[in-house]
Amino acid sequence: MGTQEGKDPGIVTTVRLNQNRPLPLRPLQFCLMFLVLGLGISIVSVNMIRFLGDRTVGPVARSNIILPCFEESDSIEKWIRPPSNLMHKMNDTELFWRASFVPRINQYPIKRVPKIAFMFLTKGPLPLAPLWERFFKGHEGLFSIYVHSLPSYVADWTKFSVFYKRQIPSQVAEWGMMSMCDAERRLLANALLDISNEWFILLSEACIPLHNFRIIYRYISRSRHSFMSVFDDPGPYGRGRYDWNMQPEVTLEQWRKGSQWFEVDRKLAVSIIKDVTYYPKFRDFCRPACYVDEHYFPTVLSIQLPHLLGKQKCYLDRLVKGWRTPCYIWEF
Ligand SMILES: *[C@@H]1O[C@H](CO)[C@@H](O)[C@H](O)[C@H]1NC(C)=O
Repeated sequence: MGTQEGKDPGIVTTVRLNQNRPLPLRPLQFCLMFLVLGLGISIVSVNMIRFLGDRTVGPVARSNIILPCFEESDSIEKWIRPPSNLMHKMNDTELFWRASFVPRINQYPIKRVPKIAFMFLTKGPLPLAPLWERFFKGHEGLFSIYVHSLPSYVADWTKFSVFYKRQIPSQVAEWGMMSMCDAERRLLANALLDISNEWFILLSEACIPLHNFRIIYRYISRSRHSFMSVFDDPGPYGRGRYDWNMQPEVTLEQWRKGSQWFEVDRKLAVSIIKDVTYYPKFRDFCRPACYVDEHYFPTVLSIQLPHLLGKQKCYLDRLVKGWRTPCYIWEF
């Protein structure tokens, strides 16, 4: 048995070599027939694919799959284009992480016109909107607007308004609570997504511009400082609100107070939204009668970047009697 099996392959090879021999021709013909048939089918199908491919398959594949990939990864536009829709689906954790991206090369490879982001922290309607519309008119490209209102408020701006589609995803914000700081950070983070925004101004619905856009733009763009009120108040409404549980992250000597309203540059804005060290301390240990929106930003910024805060040139004011939100005016 063993030897017969051993011999069989030998016979087959000789048969292949000498095809004239008549004995095992049948299976060979059979094989050959299959071979020719297979070859025929494959040649026909290759030609068919080529023929059809030119007409239908090719262009579809090219336009739908291949080209857009190249276009996206090829172009710097993808990285500098501001988001087309402010109503994104990111939650705060995702938003702050995304907004904390900072290029490490300081020079921009593009022509970048720095813009001022006007961030309106409101309950809902903007009673002074007509005034702001006139203020912004003719200065397109030098500013962007962001509005944070109560989530229940439905804005009805027309297409021609500067406030049209400038609402950001909002949550309820209560005075004196961490949710107020969250809203301010949310405004900053959304504005940071547009790489052209260089300065960030927090405003309430009670704010009135006292100078025209040109003057304010020139003043802010030429200033080497940001404007945030920061002071050390030894009294009961300052250091008196300090909670010893904040140690060791925040000491009594580092505790600061300030007004809620500010103007900061991009660097300070990033440093506000990226904080995860001090945030839990303020959230847990600064609750009324400690009003966290008066202490969180001033304290954190004066710990992180004391040299960047300039002398405050804004004054708290109640512009209209009976309005509950305070507002600053620019005076210079
Ligand atoms: C946001 O979503 C991520 C992932 O689903 C989750 O881990 C995170 O806790 C969420 N953050 C907030 C503030 O809800």
